[in-house]
Amino acid sequence: MPEGTLNIIRERRSVRRFLPKPVPREVLLKLIDCARYAPSAHNQQPWEFVIITDTQIKKTIAELTDYGKFIADAPACIAVFCRETKFNIEDGSAAVTYILLAAEALGLGTCWVAGNKKFYAEEVARILEATQGLVLHTLIPVGYPAHKPSAHKRDLEEMLHWNKF
Ligand SMILES: Cc1cc2nc3c(=O)[nH]c(=O)nc-3n(C[C@H](O)[C@H](O)[C@H](O)COP(=O)(O)O)c2cc1C
Repeated sequence: MPEGTLNIIRERRSVRRFLPKPVPREVLLKLIDCARYAPSAHNQQPWEFVIITDTQIKKTIAELTDYGKFIADAPACIAVFCRETKFNIEDGSAAVTYILLAAEALGLGTCWVAGNKKFYAEEVARILEATQGLVLHTLIPVGYPAHKPSAHKRDLEEMLHWNKF
């Protein structure tokens, strides 16, 4: 893996403020195209993605959330849905992670906004007219970052154990 890829992993942080600059359609498509390559249990690929650019839909969803109000001001928001398989949370999380890292590589900011365990999950699915059997996994606001956040990361030595604890 080239060192540049490792830097993308190290540099990614949650972005919650965005420049008022639209993200081109082909750039948004690239994010979903990368998500396709995420690992999934039994290669079930249980995910579906909705790219929301409609201002009113974004606003409605943002208002429903508790910690996702900033979705309203993001140029786009990706809603990740999964079929209810045994490992859908793990599979969906892998796809979300791929989107966050692909976005970082493309100079975009994102934030993982909780979905599957939230009180608004069903209402978001209803608004987006999700087909039967699909559950909301995560909401991902996407845009060009208006700030450079720096969430603290625990030191390697603090969490790493060789062979045994
Ligand atoms: C499962 C999950 C749910 C999250 N939900 C929210 C959320 O609802 N709103 C939000 O602003 N950030 C949310 N986050 C982002 C975290 O707050 C963020 O990843 C964490 O503070 C570490 O910061 P970093 O992403 O910059 O490394 C969520 C992250 C995860 C993994």
